[in-house]
Amino acid sequence: MDRNAPIGVFDSGVGGLTVAREIMRRMPGERIVYFGDTARLPYGSKSQDTVLRYSRQIIRFLMTRQVKAIVIACNTASAYALKTVEQETEIPVIGVIRAGARTAVQATRNGKIGVIGTEATINSGLYTDTMKEMRPDIQVTGKACPLFVPLVEEGLFHDSVTDEIASRYLAELKSRFVDTVVLGCTHYPLIRSTLRRLMGEDVTLVNPAYETAAELEELLERKGLTCTGEADPEEKYRFYVSDLAEKFTAFATSILPDQVKETKKINIEEY
Ligand code: DGL
Repeated sequence: MDRNAPIGVFDSGVGGLTVAREIMRRMPGERIVYFGDTARLPYGSKSQDTVLRYSRQIIRFLMTRQVKAIVIACNTASAYALKTVEQETEIPVIGVIRAGARTAVQATRNGKIGVIGTEATINSGLYTDTMKEMRPDIQVTGKACPLFVPLVEEGLFHDSVTDEIASRYLAELKSRFVDTVVLGCTHYPLIRSTLRRLMGEDVTLVNPAYETAAELEELLERKGLTCTGEADPEEKYRFYVSDLAEKFTAFATSILPDQVKETKKINIEEY
């Protein structure tokens, strides 16, 4: 395996850019190939079979780009597909849920944790199971927030509509006195300031992206896959989507200034 090969990162859309951003910050020498499945978003309201099929296609596509490791930068695909695809794939594959669960268990003071995510992520129960494995006495309240992804994809980060919907979703977590909330969908860090304001300063918001980047760094070191070469700046970060490449470029540029030169559209159904 070429240690200077890129890392594959994927999500249903722009959400995974919040994970790519942490990988870029932590490991500025690494190359990244990003895929956003913009034609088939959202994943959060789809069945496990469908999300698994999509994830397999994306992994096959990323393998054609000769990636050395894959990060599933999507909680929904991590919940529904990671366990299966990591056994089928020759290179290391990691998701975001274990990292997020570990950070939350370390952060809580009163043992009451809230998890917000897509319907699929919350219904899978994987955050709850993983946290309870780490600390059995923990109390976890999961809340599906299906309207957050479309609000983020529309760029409504600071908007009264987002405020109204968020305060309804968060009411249950507040009534349970959680002191830690996991942003269990990679789109949610983009509305972090709204969530912070509504939950209050005393509640810790956990963004699994930080810990995922740390886990990836450790994994690459352990496998002798840390990049040693100097990547051509024009080639360093590559972005692919299944639809609306220009819209994606405009959005991605607002999250990763100067890093997104162009986005290519591919037909993911061919993989
Ligand atoms: N960003 C994805 C996640 O972390 C999913 C959004 C969606 O497609 O529903 O769950």
